[in-house]
Amino acid sequence: MADKIKVAFFDAKDYDIKSFEEANTGGNIKIKFFETKLDEDTVKLAKGYDVVCIFVNDTVNEKVVNALVKKGVKLIALRCAGFNNVDVKAAAGRIGVVRVPAYSPYAVAEHAMALLLTSTRRIHKSYIRTKDFNFSLNGLMGFDLHGKTVGVVGTGKIGRVFIDICKGFGMKVLAYDKFPAKDVDFEYADLKEIWKKCDIISFHCPLTEETYHMVDSKSIKNMKKGVVLINTSRGALIDADALLNGIRNRHIGAACLDVYEEEADVFFEDRSGHIFEDDTLARLISMPNVIVTSHQAFLTQEALTNIAATTIANMEEYLKTGSCANEVKA
Ligand code: NAI
Repeated sequence: MADKIKVAFFDAKDYDIKSFEEANTGGNIKIKFFETKLDEDTVKLAKGYDVVCIFVNDTVNEKVVNALVKKGVKLIALRCAGFNNVDVKAAAGRIGVVRVPAYSPYAVAEHAMALLLTSTRRIHKSYIRTKDFNFSLNGLMGFDLHGKTVGVVGTGKIGRVFIDICKGFGMKVLAYDKFPAKDVDFEYADLKEIWKKCDIISFHCPLTEETYHMVDSKSIKNMKKGVVLINTSRGALIDADALLNGIRNRHIGAACLDVYEEEADVFFEDRSGHIFEDDTLARLISMPNVIVTSHQAFLTQEALTNIAATTIANMEEYLKTGSCANEVKA
């Protein structure tokens, strides 16, 4: 019998362990789950493994890639879609990189709409009030989504599902994509027009050098007063300090954030009872019109099952053939 594939699994949470143990039915893979994230300090743990399996906040920069190659690791298996945390150029030709390009666009798009509805209908406020038998409606007035214009930046798998959901609400859609799709049933516009015309803007494009801080003080100035921003993509699409300023000077009506540019050391962990060091995030969270969830948009049963199945198939395919349909190339 061939040797089992040895996998060092970083940043493991209970739900990861459960879904990967359930998916590992073939028994070809031996997984060691580490709670710690992969970075320059922890890369030594990867010694003796064939694969490192990582998530969104592990850091695989050039130094980590070099260390992995030196230790004989053959594959970096991302159990997510985005790969901005991996230096793909440094990895090219030396170590494989695979990802899960799609596991449930519905999970993320539905979460984006959940955040929007929570924000516009003040559900987060009324939930806390009625728990305390406070049935007052003061301060809970929202607005109809029907008839509003929503800007969708990035019309890939998630953006398209979000557009369909918005259409179901009777919203007008204006979309922007660097590579617009053909034969679509919505209208494309340039970013200038999106900033100018949209009541709500939702981000569904990857984080790249080009999209880094696409929302900054300059673009915010060009947006409609009262605009609602939704970010379920990657935190650094938005300059968090510029967002905070926009909230403080009342230009931005509300922000719904599932991601945050400095989330790596904060999100996914219980920080209650600690002195919170990130003043920008603390101030954002303190605002009545900002909702923050902790990079949770992907977290559905369906998505976790698909992530585990695809990641395991990616590892098997790559180690058997030296390539993989879900390989990330520089
Ligand atoms: P996708 O690859 O299907 O779509 C991305 C779209 O963005 C493509 O149409 C592409 O042409 C477009 N794009 C590329 N560069 C652009 C630019 N400079 N400006 C505007 N558009 C540009 O990706 P998918 O599956 O729809 O995911 C979108 C993003 O959502 C991912 O990159 C990831 O960062 C994020 N994500 C977040 C999750 C969460 O739990 N919060 C879970 C899964 C993905």
